[in-house]
Amino acid sequence: MKTSGLASFAATVLSGALFATAVAAADLPPIVIKGSHFFYENGTEFFIKGIAYQQDVSTNGSTSATGKFTDPLADQAGCTRDVPLIAALGVNTIRVYAINASANHDFCMKLLADNGIYLIQDLSNPVDSIIRDDPKWNTELFATYAGVVDALAGYTNTLGFFAGNEVSNDRTNTDASAFVKAAVRDMKAYIKTKNYRTIGVGYATNDDAAIRDDLASYFNCGDASEAIDFWGYNIYSWCGDSSFTESGFDQRTKEFEKFSVPAFFAEYGCNTVQPRVFTEVAAIYGPNMTNVWSGGIMYMYFQEANDYGIVSLTGTTASKLPDYTALSSQLNAVRPSNTASAAYVVSNTVASACPATGTAWAASSNLPPIANAQLCECMVSSLSCVANSGLTGNQTADLFDTVCGLDKNACAGISANGTTGVYGAYSVCTASQQLSFAFNQYYVSQKSAKTACDFGGNAKVQSGSTSSSCSSLVSAAGAAGTGTVTAAPTAAGASGGSGTGSSGASTSSTSKAAAGMITVPALNTGLLSLGVYVVVAGMAGMGMILL
Ligand SMILES: *[C@@H]1O[C@H](CO)[C@@H](O)[C@H](O)[C@H]1NC(C)=O
Ligand SMILES: *[C@@H]1O[C@H](CO)[C@@H](O)[C@H](O)[C@H]1NC(C)=O
Ligand SMILES: *[C@@H]1O[C@H](CO)[C@@H](O)[C@H](O)[C@H]1NC(C)=O
Ligand SMILES: *[C@@H]1O[C@H](CO)[C@@H](O)[C@H](O)[C@H]1NC(C)=O
Ligand SMILES: *[C@@H]1O[C@H](CO)[C@@H](O)[C@H](O)[C@H]1NC(C)=O
Ligand SMILES: *[C@@H]1O[C@H](CO)[C@@H](O)[C@H](O)[C@H]1NC(C)=O
Repeated sequence: MKTSGLASFAATVLSGALFATAVAAADLPPIVIKGSHFFYENGTEFFIKGIAYQQDVSTNGSTSATGKFTDPLADQAGCTRDVPLIAALGVNTIRVYAINASANHDFCMKLLADNGIYLIQDLSNPVDSIIRDDPKWNTELFATYAGVVDALAGYTNTLGFFAGNEVSNDRTNTDASAFVKAAVRDMKAYIKTKNYRTIGVGYATNDDAAIRDDLASYFNCGDASEAIDFWGYNIYSWCGDSSFTESGFDQRTKEFEKFSVPAFFAEYGCNTVQPRVFTEVAAIYGPNMTNVWSGGIMYMYFQEANDYGIVSLTGTTASKLPDYTALSSQLNAVRPSNTASAAYVVSNTVASACPATGTAWAASSNLPPIANAQLCECMVSSLSCVANSGLTGNQTADLFDTVCGLDKNACAGISANGTTGVYGAYSVCTASQQLSFAFNQYYVSQKSAKTACDFGGNAKVQSGSTSSSCSSLVSAAGAAGTGTVTAAPTAAGASGGSGTGSSGASTSSTSKAAAGMITVPALNTGLLSLGVYVVVAGMAGMGMILL
């Protein structure tokens, strides 16, 4: 991930119709996974010849939290201009980092299909993502990610989804991977619940030597329902006319020899030597690598301040840069030798062992709970003391400090720790729901004294009730919220993150930063790696999709 500035992605409120179902003609055959490789349905092996396709709002390296974010799959003029240029490169897959799930993607997805091009789509966006230094997995993120799945699952040229990009990126933030893996698990289950075609959910990692082995093992280990379906590797170690050995591609290939699911380069294209000659392409699709890797995605199409592009835009006119020609001749020259599915005997049948937690790796293999919005709604209706609606993010953060300070036990049910693997059942709820839970815990501990449900006029008593459809959920969570709820949201309400929360991105922590409105040190989407982003209060709260 090498782009410069990016704006924030404001509210995505689904207004009803989902467009994905409207597509029919000129469908591409879906790509399926067998063992460590991708195949067309007819059994021919599929290698990803990919390019990252998303334009940054700012092409001058500034970091802007207010500019508009462009969904490239909703930009008909852009697709009309670019898809033929992409196809001529010999590309068969694009990677898009963020979409507006409520926009219509029919035109671009059909044009891509007509040109034999598949899509790998990241589920997060610049506002709604798992933050590496303050990670959470909650119903709001679930709703956003599920919205992207809903928007794209109907297109047969949707190849797969990334549930995260470079979230844990060094040894200080590996605990965040527990939350990302929970996102993988929940989105895999969601795709099944909705009876969509089987579409893989993977993760795109950075190439940090201290943690890359543990990262790959962690996301591949344990129960298959929690593990990634494929592994994307963002790797920039082949610069200029390097070689298989000099670049370290030989070592990386050895490391993935036994990996039980497909692995490919989710970004490549080092630009420290210019112009780029893309000699890595012959290696990626050559006999040294194709038994282990399923191709790669070059970063990137649009020329921007970070200087990774191969096409520059002047107004709306696209011009090929010299790197376009170099990439095109390399990609069009390769003929990866493929193994037919029927002749492929899967040999990598064993998943990795989960890495032990210690100094280098700090994510527990015990994952955060399923982000079940129904559970949270049931919890709130059961309470006798709740937070007022309409509190700002800062008020909510202050009130967390207050109530958790008064009674630490009040907050056990809403806290989450990816290192210890101890998560409150309500750690997945919205900030407002969590605040209500903590208020109620305190109120109950004070024997329901009237003064114990006040909090400066920000709380009120209600007559709590638990409907029959809620009782098993709420009782599994337990009175303190420290029980284990294994129920997944049902299909109908699956993407309902519709809490009463006013501070969207935030949940369980007691700090102001955790209430989602202060400084976010680089959101974890592929668009945002250089620099620091500031998400202003309110904006972070808008990213909720209501179904
Ligand atoms: C399978 O389908 C792909 C894509 O349409 C095609 O390129 C390939 O030749 C087909 N393989 C066979 C064995 O028909
Ligand atoms: C850079 O881009 C930002 C955001 O689009 C814009 O506000 C700013 O004026 C630009 N600066 C220059 C020097 O072009
Ligand atoms: C997302 O798309 C919808 C429908 O086209 C549109 O109303 C909304 O403004 C878009 N949101 C953003 C942030 O562009
Ligand atoms: C394959 O590996 C061998 C041995 O390391 C190396 O000499 C050769 O250049 C590699 N081929 C490509 C296409 O990188
Ligand atoms: C919220 O709190 C932060 C940090 O204390 C502060 O910078 C910001 O101005 C506050 N926002 C509002 C709207 O009060
Ligand atoms: C998680 O728990 C460990 C061990 O108690 C502690 O060191 C760490 O600070 C906790 N992390 C968070 C984010 O609270």
